[in-house]
Amino acid sequence: MSTVQSMPIDSLAYQRDAFIERFLNFASGTFNMFSIYIGDRLGLYRALAEAGPATSKELAKRTRTHERYIREWLEQQTVAGILEIESENHTAAARRFRLPPGHVEPLIECSSLNYLSPMAQLLVGAVRPLPEVLEAYRKGGGVPFDSYGKDLREGQAAINYPAFWHQLPEEWLPAITDVHARLEADPPARVADIGCGYGWSSMGMARGYPRIRVDGFDLDSPSIKHAKENAKRNKLADRVRFQVRDAGDPSLEGRYDLVTAFECVHDLSNPVRALQTMRRLVKDDGVVLVVDERVGDKFTPKGNDVEWMMYGWSILHCLPVGMVDENAAGTGTVMRADTLKKYATDAGFSSVEVLPIEHFFFRFYRLNP
Ligand SMILES: C[S@@+](CC[C@H](N)C(=O)[O-])C[C@H]1O[C@@H](n2cnc3c(N)ncnc32)[C@H](O)[C@@H]1O
Repeated sequence: MSTVQSMPIDSLAYQRDAFIERFLNFASGTFNMFSIYIGDRLGLYRALAEAGPATSKELAKRTRTHERYIREWLEQQTVAGILEIESENHTAAARRFRLPPGHVEPLIECSSLNYLSPMAQLLVGAVRPLPEVLEAYRKGGGVPFDSYGKDLREGQAAINYPAFWHQLPEEWLPAITDVHARLEADPPARVADIGCGYGWSSMGMARGYPRIRVDGFDLDSPSIKHAKENAKRNKLADRVRFQVRDAGDPSLEGRYDLVTAFECVHDLSNPVRALQTMRRLVKDDGVVLVVDERVGDKFTPKGNDVEWMMYGWSILHCLPVGMVDENAAGTGTVMRADTLKKYATDAGFSSVEVLPIEHFFFRFYRLNP
């Protein structure tokens, strides 16, 4: 007998209706995320924040967009509770819309730790190659990082920028006292940052520790191009260098005091090879730091407080990119501590410690050579 048949009619109706309510909330959240993408990419939120409340015509003029679309978007944003309307008693053309002050930081303050708009951009990037993703679900294999395009790269860089620029050098590294001391000391410490993306982690470290030299490596050439431009713009190019390199490249050389990997080990098709590289690059008295997602230690039906999101990224992006090579590990975003420990042991590390640094998304692992 199926579960449905075995349920009393009342419980079935209750369960169905509760699910319908949640289902519609899923749809509403999804529309809102895409609407935030539009507002963010077209500079609509910024224009409202900087030049004040506007009618659809005024906002379209400010942002060089088409009034009819802007009017629809403004009304949608109001119904969604993202924007507010100044007075309901106006004609459509005369209605003025404003950005509530408390919504400014999450929507447009790109250096704030509360900045969240990049999540919408990441989401748009994550669904870009959905046909390829579906094909991978059917046949196996992976979807290359490149297929996810600019929105995913940019969203990834922007969502981590505030934490890498501020918390990494100001809180996280100072909490690892021996690493902090070495980064402050002479001779200048050398740092390798694997899978650095747009390079904000490399540059955040260099900003906080003015003696150190950092080499950032990433397989994705558009990311490295942006990283180099960012280093120049931030006047760090003399101490922070970026190269297009595979994390598993056996010809990667150097002797580093600190080797880092931020939010990338779970994305690698071959994480053990990358960890072997990191082990080879670190000096005997150096430290390898892996920063990855703060997921629970084991699967539970409810997951921990961030797994709803980590599984979301995983089914659309991180698992497909981690399935690209032959014999790919296929880790996914939800890389549990035991999985990383197994990879680290296979790569020759003697032990892995979870560091007592608290962050909503991240867990900090110290891998001992
Ligand atoms: C989720 S992003 C993280 C980027 C950056 N560390 C951050 O936290 O914002 C993962 C990065 O790993 C890079 N990557 C994937 N496979 C790689 C490989 N085999 N070697 C080097 N980088 C790789 C991707 O290009 C991407 O930039």
